[in-house]
Amino acid sequence: MSLTLIITFIALLGSLYVFCPSSAELPWFEHPAKPDGSLSFLVVGDWGRRGAYNQTKVAHQMGIVGEKLKIDFIISTGDNFYDDGLTGVDDAAFFESFVNIYTAPSLAKQWYNVLGNHDYRGDVEAQLSPVLRDIDSRWLCLRSFIVNAEIAEFIFVDTTPFVNKYFTDPEDHVYDWSGIQPRKSYLANLLKDVDSALKESTAKWKIVVGHHTIKSSGHHGNTHELNLQLLPILQENEVDLYINGHDHCLERISSTESGIQFLTSGGGSKAWKGDIDWWNPKEDKFYYDGQGFMSVQITPTEVDVAFYDIFGNVIHKWSTSKQLYSAL
Ligand SMILES: *[C@@H]1O[C@H](CO)[C@@H](O)[C@H](O)[C@H]1NC(C)=O
Repeated sequence: MSLTLIITFIALLGSLYVFCPSSAELPWFEHPAKPDGSLSFLVVGDWGRRGAYNQTKVAHQMGIVGEKLKIDFIISTGDNFYDDGLTGVDDAAFFESFVNIYTAPSLAKQWYNVLGNHDYRGDVEAQLSPVLRDIDSRWLCLRSFIVNAEIAEFIFVDTTPFVNKYFTDPEDHVYDWSGIQPRKSYLANLLKDVDSALKESTAKWKIVVGHHTIKSSGHHGNTHELNLQLLPILQENEVDLYINGHDHCLERISSTESGIQFLTSGGGSKAWKGDIDWWNPKEDKFYYDGQGFMSVQITPTEVDVAFYDIFGNVIHKWSTSKQLYSAL
């Protein structure tokens, strides 16, 4: 991302965000926790279908849960607009799949969005454009960025360019790779930036968000490239949660080789019923192949995750805790 673009972002974001100059190269936003130090947010992925496939029902329940948990923001794990991203900043899909769908007052919070593979089949720059933010101030989508929320640090990673098959076997899809060439140095720089951001972070909880799975029992399964390239960095830096979409389900995998929880929230609209490939019963903790979303509540000592179906039922819960003062 060019410096002018970053400056434009800062100018447009106004007083809500402070851009912190840091040795990390990724754009950086501050999102202060609540006065009591806690934080809560919802995660939805793979959603933009003009309300169809239960998207509207998921949105409705997100509104109710968002109110109850007094959420601070919403994370979208990508595949924001089906089938082929946005055609431009004036694409009506922005209204039909986002503005007019997530209308509950509790969802009138900042949305932190990453791009999915379907978004790369459209005009990528449109989703990144500050013009969308003028239309709906909740919208913020960048390729990769950092959100510092004091007790937790979020690193959003652009995962689509890692996946070889989109380049070698794009089928009849046309991907907009204009912003990521040359690919090799784009990926190398991104991995370096993620690594240094994690190393510099002093936050109690480290959370990485990307569109693609690292570990999943769903239709797409594991993303080989991320297992090879991104996972070692997450393990080395003791990341707590890796949050993704891409598989159209709700899922939690607890790895035996590290403390990372792999959380999939890709149930924002069309779900893939029955398309499961159980691969490791020791690590597969929860899998739901209908629609829904996830909530996360964080305090300095505890993380509570819950998954919801389209009726708002909690269908799975998981918590973890850390000492207030960890031995360094
Ligand atoms: C909507 O959700 C209900 C309940 O899970 C499910 O029975 C139905 O098939 C879903 N509809 C679509 C179009 O996916």
